[in-house]
Amino acid sequence: MATAAYQIEGGRHEQGKGDSIWDRFSDLGRLRDPGDVACDHYHRWEEDLDLLARLGVSSYRFSVSWPRVIPDGDGRVNQAGLDFYRRLVAGLRARGIAPFVTLYHWDLPQVLQDKGGWASRQTVEAFARYACVVAGALGDDTTHWITQNEPWVTTMLGHRDGVFAPGISDWQTAMTVGHHLLVAHGMAAEEVKGVLPDAQVGIGIDCRPARAASDSDEDHAAARHFDGARNRWFFDPIFGHGYPDDVMRTYRDRRQIDPDLVTTADLAIIATPIDFLGLNYYTTVTIGAGQEDGPDPGPESGKDPGPGYTDMGWRVDPAGLTRYLRHIHDTYAPRSILITENGASYSDGPDERGIIDDVRRIDYLRSHVEATAAARDRGVPVDGYFVWSLMDNLEWVEGFSQRFGLIWVDRETLDRTPKRSFDWYRGIVTAGTLAAS
Ligand code: FCB
Repeated sequence: MATAAYQIEGGRHEQGKGDSIWDRFSDLGRLRDPGDVACDHYHRWEEDLDLLARLGVSSYRFSVSWPRVIPDGDGRVNQAGLDFYRRLVAGLRARGIAPFVTLYHWDLPQVLQDKGGWASRQTVEAFARYACVVAGALGDDTTHWITQNEPWVTTMLGHRDGVFAPGISDWQTAMTVGHHLLVAHGMAAEEVKGVLPDAQVGIGIDCRPARAASDSDEDHAAARHFDGARNRWFFDPIFGHGYPDDVMRTYRDRRQIDPDLVTTADLAIIATPIDFLGLNYYTTVTIGAGQEDGPDPGPESGKDPGPGYTDMGWRVDPAGLTRYLRHIHDTYAPRSILITENGASYSDGPDERGIIDDVRRIDYLRSHVEATAAARDRGVPVDGYFVWSLMDNLEWVEGFSQRFGLIWVDRETLDRTPKRSFDWYRGIVTAGTLAAS
């Protein structure tokens, strides 16, 4: 089961927390709903941990809010903020659940953004220090660490397209940010290992497997470039292959990347060995000529995408997951793979009896759990599976309009009600179908 700090915690001004770039984005009215309270997990965390225990999962992936722990990003450590996570981790352990800590799930301290954000090398240094602080505080009870979540999103949606915080639209800045995120991953991995030599450290990368829209050479070239920019650009350097030449050439030709950005020393840091690859999988895309630079093509906007698509307009493609897991295994051979996110947005709410019969989510999850097991049966070392998400939460710019949870959250009262999928998943966990978490 997986969540992220900004999407559930709230407690924006509690006990010395600083603002993150998402707080600022929210103040600017760029989110459909403000995130100041979110699911109020900051105050209701014990109830949420009880629900996790009821679900029976063996592990829980959550993220630490950097500005809660170091409000200005680089200075004083806020003990009260750290204590919140200490209590959370102790509460998980008391319930027999292993914490999987994500260090960065997009909520950069706003103060660091004001000094250049991820485009500045100083943010990379600050992240390494922050990683060390958190590892020191939570390390006694935490063995699994995820440095960065979905670097493509911060890079492209946050800095090329400007639709996610911090809302910048500049190609070269985006490429610098993407590179710094990966360097920060490598440095943080070393820091965590320095403090906790036995820790298992990995990174969570999102993927969008792409197929060509037709057999034409143009469509194949477009799909290849899309895959290069969206997927290979991140997987290749993590596994020591450097950035893909074909994409680098295009970026250089178009002057979309600073030619002096990437050094051999940086590539060595990025390729710091990881103990597991975290893979976030939701969907696949079909790419034709003209669509190679994204955004992800979906069904026509404003139209009901119909069956076969989730409410995000994402195609349901479980076979794509099996294929991609095999591809990752064949291409990069990670020691271990964890599905660190998989899930679906469907809006089904309570019926007149108060029951939330989210059968489409059950179908989605069942098919993807089976798809994961199919890859494992063919020798892919998939060692864990995390559902996105425990409860309906703030889906970034979409606010609360998209519901991914196994638990319904009433937007007025913030009461939690497990959906049918919750009971179904408990059955999956109990049966030990996967290392389901
Ligand atoms: C992923 C994010 C996660 C959530 C899901 C739906 O890209 O990591 O926070 O928003 O998508």
